[in-house]
Amino acid sequence: MGYVTKTLWKLTICAMLVATLGCSDSKEKQQKEQKEQTLQDSHNARHNAAKPNIVILATGGTIAGAVDSSLQTTGYQAGVLSIESLLQSVPELASIANLESEQIANIDSADMNEEIWLKLAKRVNTLLKSSQVDGVVITHGTDTMEESAFFLHLVAKSDKPIVFVGAMRPSTALSADGPKNLYNAISLAANPESKGKGVMVVMNDRIQSARYVSKTHTLNVNAFASPNAGDMGYILDGKAFFYTIPAKPHTLQSEFDVDKLDSLPKVDILYSYANDNSQVAAQALFNHGTKGLVIAGSGAGSIHKNHKDMLKKLMQNGLVVVQNSRVNNGLVIANEADSKLGFISSYDLNPQKARVLLMLALSKTDNNERIAKIFESY
Ligand code: SIN
Repeated sequence: MGYVTKTLWKLTICAMLVATLGCSDSKEKQQKEQKEQTLQDSHNARHNAAKPNIVILATGGTIAGAVDSSLQTTGYQAGVLSIESLLQSVPELASIANLESEQIANIDSADMNEEIWLKLAKRVNTLLKSSQVDGVVITHGTDTMEESAFFLHLVAKSDKPIVFVGAMRPSTALSADGPKNLYNAISLAANPESKGKGVMVVMNDRIQSARYVSKTHTLNVNAFASPNAGDMGYILDGKAFFYTIPAKPHTLQSEFDVDKLDSLPKVDILYSYANDNSQVAAQALFNHGTKGLVIAGSGAGSIHKNHKDMLKKLMQNGLVVVQNSRVNNGLVIANEADSKLGFISSYDLNPQKARVLLMLALSKTDNNERIAKIFESY
């Protein structure tokens, strides 16, 4: 049968079907179009041009945690509720901004990893490039929030507001802190005054810079502080009062770019302590592919001689070592002799933040002097 005859046959059969049953293909297409139109209409109905557009990226944590008893604030499962159900449970949020949400992950933040960091950072960068997005809120477990927030502070390429938020009590708890924290976070992201201030963390009415903030209490709702810098501001029922801005480069001024990265160099943290036996751990980590170590030393960064001797040996074989402290206030500056050996000063960064910076530094260079300069700058 020739092509023209075949086509004519097909058209005739379809016309017959439409006349009798309706052509199923075109019916399905029509239904799909109608559904899309309904979704678009409901989006437009919710969208108010006078309000800012905020996207919430959810990663899990206690804010999305749940347990059977409202009296329980421990022993719950983190990262259970979807971001949609969290938003629905706080209808007041819709009065602040037009909200869209995406579930990036739903985990206990103890399990945070570099894949999620990179996915989150790339998504934030894509969203904030759009003129349709005014700010981003990231819901996150509190345990490693300071690390993820600092990572974003260094790699986000926008001056639009980026706000991290979590909760210390699960969503099911009597007096859960998540809803008010979320209200404050969305208000802060929707506030034009938040532009250009780098990544912020909002917990318990306190605004803190991702550069300085640290978790300082295991259980209390007032769990975050910035030991070396103090709070960046206060937020009262959604209204922000700023006190300071972070002094170091971040976001648009930062030299780090993750858009082309699929992984990050391996960096670990080791403690120094009485009878320190970490030479075994340091050697094992190096053999296992660790490129950099952050040493949480005692006091102003001192390292037990057993441990230090091993570090010196490994440094000669290419390991990069950042001298840090297990004390949560103050600076660590390597002395002249240690600097000459290659130990890098971490200044006021805590060990987990120094690790983030070292991973990013090593993604650009393995030159010790260059890395030391990066620590001086950021
Ligand atoms: C977590 O970090 O995911 C659990 C703890 C919390 O969010 O407070």
